[in-house]
Amino acid sequence: MHLVTTQYLPAKRLLFCSDLHLDWRPTEQFLATLQPHDYDLLLIAGDIGLGKDVHEKLAEILAGIGKPIVSVLGNHDFYGSSFEKVNERMLKRFPLGNGWMIRLDGSQVLQLSSSAALIGVDGWGDGIAGYGLSSSAVMQDWIDIRELRKARREEKLFAYLRHLGCRSAQQLESALTLTLKNFEQVLVLTHVPPFPEACLFAADHDRDNLLPFYCNTALGHLLRQAADHHPCQQITVLCGHTHHSAGCDIVPNLRVLVAAAEYGHPQPSRLLKI
Ligand SMILES: [Fe+2]
Ligand SMILES: [Fe+2]
Repeated sequence: MHLVTTQYLPAKRLLFCSDLHLDWRPTEQFLATLQPHDYDLLLIAGDIGLGKDVHEKLAEILAGIGKPIVSVLGNHDFYGSSFEKVNERMLKRFPLGNGWMIRLDGSQVLQLSSSAALIGVDGWGDGIAGYGLSSSAVMQDWIDIRELRKARREEKLFAYLRHLGCRSAQQLESALTLTLKNFEQVLVLTHVPPFPEACLFAADHDRDNLLPFYCNTALGHLLRQAADHHPCQQITVLCGHTHHSAGCDIVPNLRVLVAAAEYGHPQPSRLLKI
């Protein structure tokens, strides 16, 4: 079991977005799209910037909105750098349990109300869904992120992807167990959709070829088990990564919402009221 900390963060209206890719457009353009919305908390499901500046992009958003942000990081947030360096910079810029920008790493339970809590973890496509090992797709991640480049060079890429997916499930397990004991509604923020059903692609894309890298089956397994064991609790997963809007019920008490996104048009995806 991992150590879990609980923090009270009262919020009724959550503005959810993902895949802002602010290396394409200035942060101000995104901030302008937030202005018409009335919300208490901004949720960002990753792919905010690049490895060198994701921490600065988050700081710009925080300064621009003056409201709390809860975020996880996506694959693009490590591009041009490494997991190690970006995690180090994020921790330095936003120390854990301090301030209004909270990066979820699986260890925190954020209590939004007496009945709802928010947890989350970055997540990663674990190389298992669709064609799995037989996929012929080549991802930019394997070139632009140091640890993945090394794993590929050493022919350990799929083992490493599987490790990243399993680790995300392990990181979230204790917080998920705790929240399901104490709250009726559990929101899970993560970058990669945990179920193939939630992964939609453009019609001309080979779905099964891409699925191994767009689905985190390890996290899906954990969530499905948890939902089955707690039929009276509602779990809602908020994610991105595919850039295609999706909303599907895996089982009656487990819903997955994927944020739509378009490069060059950073904007909120939907307002959630709890
Ligand atoms: Fe993205
Ligand atoms: Fe992504």
